[in-house]
Amino acid sequence: MHYGGDYNPEQWPEEIWPEDVARMREAGVTMVSLGIFSWSRIQPAEGQFDFDWLDRVIDLLHEGGIAVDLATATASPPPWVHERYPEVLPVTADGVTLGPGSRQHYAPSSPVYRRLASELVTAIAHRYAQHPGVVMWHINNEYGCHLHADYSDTARDAFRAWLEKRYGDVETLNDAWGTAFWSQRYTSFSQVLPPRAAPYSHNPGQLLDFHRFTSDMLLECYLMEKEIIRAAGATQPVTTNFMGPFKPANYAQWAPHLDVITDDCYPDPNDPESFRDAAFQRDLMRSLKPDVPWMLMEQATNALNWRPSNAPKAPGQMEALSIQCVGRGADGILFFQWRQSRAGAEKFHSAMLPHAGTDTRTWREVTRLGATLAALGSLPVGTDARVALVMDWENWWAIESPDHPSNRLDHLAVLQRWYRALHRRHVAVDIVTPEQVDERHSLVIAPTLYLLRPEGADALVAHVRRGGHLLTGPFTDVVDERDRFLDGGFLTRLGPVLGVGIEDFGALAVAGGGPGEAVAPLTGPFGEAIGTVLAEEVILRGADAVATFSEGRRAGGPALTRFSGEGGTGWYLATVPDEAGCDAIAGHVLEAAGVRAVIDGAPDTVDVSRRGNVVTVVNFGSEPASVPLAGTDLATGEQVEHVDLEPYGYALVAQ
Ligand code: GLA
Repeated sequence: MHYGGDYNPEQWPEEIWPEDVARMREAGVTMVSLGIFSWSRIQPAEGQFDFDWLDRVIDLLHEGGIAVDLATATASPPPWVHERYPEVLPVTADGVTLGPGSRQHYAPSSPVYRRLASELVTAIAHRYAQHPGVVMWHINNEYGCHLHADYSDTARDAFRAWLEKRYGDVETLNDAWGTAFWSQRYTSFSQVLPPRAAPYSHNPGQLLDFHRFTSDMLLECYLMEKEIIRAAGATQPVTTNFMGPFKPANYAQWAPHLDVITDDCYPDPNDPESFRDAAFQRDLMRSLKPDVPWMLMEQATNALNWRPSNAPKAPGQMEALSIQCVGRGADGILFFQWRQSRAGAEKFHSAMLPHAGTDTRTWREVTRLGATLAALGSLPVGTDARVALVMDWENWWAIESPDHPSNRLDHLAVLQRWYRALHRRHVAVDIVTPEQVDERHSLVIAPTLYLLRPEGADALVAHVRRGGHLLTGPFTDVVDERDRFLDGGFLTRLGPVLGVGIEDFGALAVAGGGPGEAVAPLTGPFGEAIGTVLAEEVILRGADAVATFSEGRRAGGPALTRFSGEGGTGWYLATVPDEAGCDAIAGHVLEAAGVRAVIDGAPDTVDVSRRGNVVTVVNFGSEPASVPLAGTDLATGEQVEHVDLEPYGYALVAQ
């Protein structure tokens, strides 16, 4: 179990470093991420490297028993780079060049950036590959965090090359994008541009491929660095820090290239429900590489600097969120950052060692958590989730393309709403792509799966045919991987196992008051729910209507259907239910699928998770909670029948 944070010693006089190491030991720190923004310090000019200071810091840390997660420092190029090579700067869709003076001001596809980054990484990797203090490599930092896409001429050229590789010839590209429309037919790849500012809607195939390209360019940068590290003979695990459900980078595709998944997560401490979305993020990280424990690479000890208002964390809240990570599969808790900065844009951001010093609540909480984690020992791996929640980046990109029946569909918000319904019921969930659904899952929930690849469709159909439950819809199985309709209408692949077809998507109005309804109430055995965004016109083709719309244009029409004609059970939902509706429908379907909670009887504000035989409970409610949970309390070694938890209290119990 690692404990620590980003360490930025170049912001401090060298005399402070020994004190840092001593304080780290006091706090129970075992690992620091070093050098993330040190490019200008390591390489003050092209061809000139200064490693003496870094040698001294790494040695000092090593002597102090602090392991190093060594960064490649490529996330923020120094001023000499753009002075000499202004072409590395990225450009927005509107043609604005993003200048230096902040960070991440580089075009990921720029050959010059890549050459300079590779020279830097080569030097660092050769110098430290064999250093016993370096236990992990931290490539770049939060790829794409600020720069969600680059539209520069560099990107233009790289996009053309990427398309040529993907499609081979321009006619195949024309076919994929449907360029017979609006006179868009290309006769050469050299005519294709990134989707820069244009008078009206872009071609959806172009938009989708530009998302893929953008994710691929960042991944290429990562892979380039990883290869250099390996070529230098380094054998330590290699990672880059993810940002939870981050739209621009297809983490499901990236995950096989990371030895350890690491994540940065900053739940809003002022939102009493943010722990549920945090749980979603933890489960996503666990699911990306289920056999290897992930690590929380960054969180805040207390307040941030980048929200409109940066509320402090309540006493105990940071520790509770940390233990939530551990319960959901993390074997490391780190922070941004070790010592609070004196200057710069993040000087108000909390840190492990606050500006106000060690006589602070933050420091006391930091040292207490260090001691707690050190005492934990190793925990088993594996969650045994029987529910799969389908999350697919390509679908996310395509479904949020403009010009849809409703342009108000927030796919991540829909996924998180379903997740929260499962979370309140303490059900273990894997968050996977359709292709990753397997025999361990008895219930698959695939909300709004608009883009469905053939392999994904096959996996979902196979899941039902081997007896599983599939809950899907609305706006699902609409297009293929090129964002094109398939012959035969909608639900062409999943329809047979759902026993339904779709005639119309039935977009709901933005607000009431006119002839179009803004919401679509529905009634079923689970009670009542409010449908939002869409109220689809479902045709029953063997399925039964479990719930029907109770008012409006679709009154009496099927709202939730169930079909058992193909081995398992296909459920189709014709609308996006509100929070309470999602909750009620999830309960109904879980019961039908025979899925149980990790444990019964915990209040819904208690976070419940399992790692092998260890159950973790964390109370995020404002009231004390008593949870029936028998086993050995890992903190005390005592046998318990139940645990009593104060607000932000927690327990890990081995069963
Ligand atoms: C991100 C970055 C860090 C820091 C924090 C602040 O996670 O990786 O460098 O800026 O945000 O919250």
